Amino acid sequence: MPKAAEPIDQPVQEPVDEAALAAALEERINGVVAHRPLVMVSNRGPVQFTQERNGHFSTKQGSGGLVTAVSTVLQENEAVWIAATMGRGDRARWQRARDNNEAFIPPAESGTNFHLRFVEPDEAAYNKYYNVISNPLLWFLQHYLWDTPRAPDITHEVWDAWRNGYVTVNQQFANEIVAACDNLTDRGEPIVMLQDYHLYLCPGMIRAQRPGTTIQHFIHIPWPDPDYWRLLPVEMRKAICEGMLGNDIVGFQTKSHARSFMYTCEAYVPDVEVDYTTRTIRWNDREIKVTHYPISIDPTAVKRIAYSQEARAYERYLPTHWNEYTILRTDRAEPSKNIIRGFQGFDRFLELHPEFRDRVNFIAVTQPSRMDVEEYRNYLDDISAIVGRINAKYANVETGWQPITLIMGEKYARVLAAMKWYDLLMVNSLMDGMALVAKEGALVNERSGVLLLSEGAGVVEQLGEWALVVSPADVEGHAEAIFQALTMPMAERHRRATAMKREIESHDVTMWFRDQLRDIIEIEDQKTEEA
Ligand code: G6P
Repeated sequence: MPKAAEPIDQPVQEPVDEAALAAALEERINGVVAHRPLVMVSNRGPVQFTQERNGHFSTKQGSGGLVTAVSTVLQENEAVWIAATMGRGDRARWQRARDNNEAFIPPAESGTNFHLRFVEPDEAAYNKYYNVISNPLLWFLQHYLWDTPRAPDITHEVWDAWRNGYVTVNQQFANEIVAACDNLTDRGEPIVMLQDYHLYLCPGMIRAQRPGTTIQHFIHIPWPDPDYWRLLPVEMRKAICEGMLGNDIVGFQTKSHARSFMYTCEAYVPDVEVDYTTRTIRWNDREIKVTHYPISIDPTAVKRIAYSQEARAYERYLPTHWNEYTILRTDRAEPSKNIIRGFQGFDRFLELHPEFRDRVNFIAVTQPSRMDVEEYRNYLDDISAIVGRINAKYANVETGWQPITLIMGEKYARVLAAMKWYDLLMVNSLMDGMALVAKEGALVNERSGVLLLSEGAGVVEQLGEWALVVSPADVEGHAEAIFQALTMPMAERHRRATAMKREIESHDVTMWFRDQLRDIIEIEDQKTEEA
């Protein structure tokens, strides 16, 4: 009989208590949220100041998903927020702080939870940085919006805007961030959290001055593939990638945008090593983590506004816009939102299904945006023109019906009030980082409304399963999806709407933020071990 193999002495492995480790990590995240000095940085700040005639300052909350998300997740931490001055009011308020030798505008005076600090570029530099490079050049590039046989032209004006606008303002931001960090060290080593495409050069500039600082950068918009980046000359695209590699962590909305970033660095930065499995880039003896954190909303806060007195007041007059079927869209007047194709699809739907005429209203709540940029002004004109044409084509003089109503302006409570009622919400962006309106709508809608989603919106990764998904250029596909939505049995609508609500409630904006902090803690632990 063969002898049984002698047992080999193995070191006894203690079972790993995964739950206890996870709980300990959660505790450490709570510690960061409560105590660690955080420096949040974005081009647009959480509030904008206006100086009243009596010399006092009033504030208005900044618009957009970025400001709302970050303001929500940083309620407890006395974080510093650095932003650019946006107008005369901001400049006057910041001047007053400096006259009083204050390093920050305290929370009580801005009505936020933040210690505000401003970067104050001169108007010409800011105009080049914001209205020439950030929007349209980078915004259009990152949303694949350029009509490439004709645009963009990288003229000497664009080169000038790059060198004396984008680079200059990024350097000003970096200097301000370094100064703020130096000011904060008595509370511990600060963590810098940069937001978005206005600040691509900042991480490298901060790293040069404070090599040990933890820097994280979240990009709210898509990241295109390397070939498309060739629209930018070598100097610009290389500076952007290398600037970003000054970070410890770069975060995107989706997995595919994170991957495109790694491809782009591999294509344009000499001597990088990219590991697509661990999602890390090695460059200049440092390791950079590249990952994704889908942004979300705060369901409790959104519902609070949706059921506020202000929203209820809007609900009294909004029904005059409703019909037997109501289609809604709500966006900034922005070419990436694909508003015109949405109307073309609706036009085709009315052509194919005359039985719906008089019975369906399309309400488009549209906020003019970036009106100093020619492409945006033209797009707003195009929207008005197509609405006019479609209304003229179908308007019924006897009943007074006209198919599309354009409501201009930005009132969040009104948008949420309108969202409660739709049968179909159209979110058909050509490209979109996330498209949070889809989440807001699905959360507050009370009629099991259907969601029409474009494949190009980041949110499709999360909600696509329960939406009607269209290809953004497919006008015929839009028309078919509208028909399918308006004829969908109520039980099916209900099934989809319930699943979407559940998904949104269980993946809120707090998770978006805590996931980022979890990775920051891990990276810092790793750096300490290596030191
Ligand atoms: C949208 C984008 C953000 C971006 C913001 C800038 O909200 O999703 O990523 O930061 O626009 O908007 P602004 O009005 O400041 O140009």
